[in-house]
Amino acid sequence: MTHPLFSLESRVALVTGSSRGLGFAMAEGLAECGATVVLNGRNEKTLAEGAKKLKDRGLRADFSVFDVTNEAATRAAIDDIARRHGRLDILIANAGMTIRKPLEEWTLAQWNEVIAADLTACFLVTQCSVPHMKKNKYGRVIYTTSLTAVRGRPGIHAYVAAKTGLIGMTRSLACELAEHGITVNGVLPGYFETELNAALLANKEFVEFVNSRTPMRRWGKPRELAGAAIYLAAEASSYVTGQQITVDGGTSAQM
Ligand SMILES: NC(=O)c1ccc[n+]([C@@H]2O[C@H](COP(=O)([O-])OP(=O)(O)OC[C@H]3O[C@@H](n4cnc5c(N)ncnc54)[C@H](OP(=O)(O)O)[C@@H]3O)[C@@H](O)[C@H]2O)c1
Repeated sequence: MTHPLFSLESRVALVTGSSRGLGFAMAEGLAECGATVVLNGRNEKTLAEGAKKLKDRGLRADFSVFDVTNEAATRAAIDDIARRHGRLDILIANAGMTIRKPLEEWTLAQWNEVIAADLTACFLVTQCSVPHMKKNKYGRVIYTTSLTAVRGRPGIHAYVAAKTGLIGMTRSLACELAEHGITVNGVLPGYFETELNAALLANKEFVEFVNSRTPMRRWGKPRELAGAAIYLAAEASSYVTGQQITVDGGTSAQM
């Protein structure tokens, strides 16, 4: 039996960008604690497969296909999720992407593309979800931020700007929404083995570089982010808001 502080029975959770990678791992973790999870992404086939994988284990799962950078689609989809499931308690705004290149090679369109997906969309999905949370005076908003927002790396300028912006927005929203019973926090991952990092994982030197900078001497497995998400989604974190939980094998703790 799940400890009551970590039980998510009767809770409904939307996890954006959860067809694979960190989003799927966090959604699976919430579902294992009793939540009904709604997977999201832009590809219906992968989402249907993901939801089936969870349902085959006896977990409660649904999916909603929409692009978080499309305002009309996002607004309609989130209202539809709340209508279909009768409530919306937990939002993990996790969908994200990156572009890596030297400063001079960036176009403004590329900058805008990353900011739209990694920052503006998080504002939008939060604005759409919070009214449903306010109805029950209970809500959990969780952003997937990044180690690169607090430790510099070259080439990923818009990504770093977006993730740093998310950490700031975590605090402003925490201040505004606390009186409605809604907490706002972030999970701050180091380097994890996911498709987002396919190019980095194919580069042996970079893999070794990360290992050498990480006290645990390895990259994270997506499953290892689930615990932090469960904690921030559950009663266990009822007095925690405006914070980040770093999950990085100790990378940020080392000089
Ligand atoms: N992996 C890491 O080391 C790491 C570290 C720190 C932070 N993060 C953050 O963690 C989050 C997840 O990353 P990941 O590594 O799991 O990446 P991933 O494996 O590439 O997964 C990204 C997910 O987001 C979805 N997605 C992308 N753009 C979307 C859009 N516009 N609308 C809806 N869904 C969209 C993708 O599905 P479709 O393509 O099917 O739409 C997929 O489900 C991102 O915010 C990333 O910045 C990752």
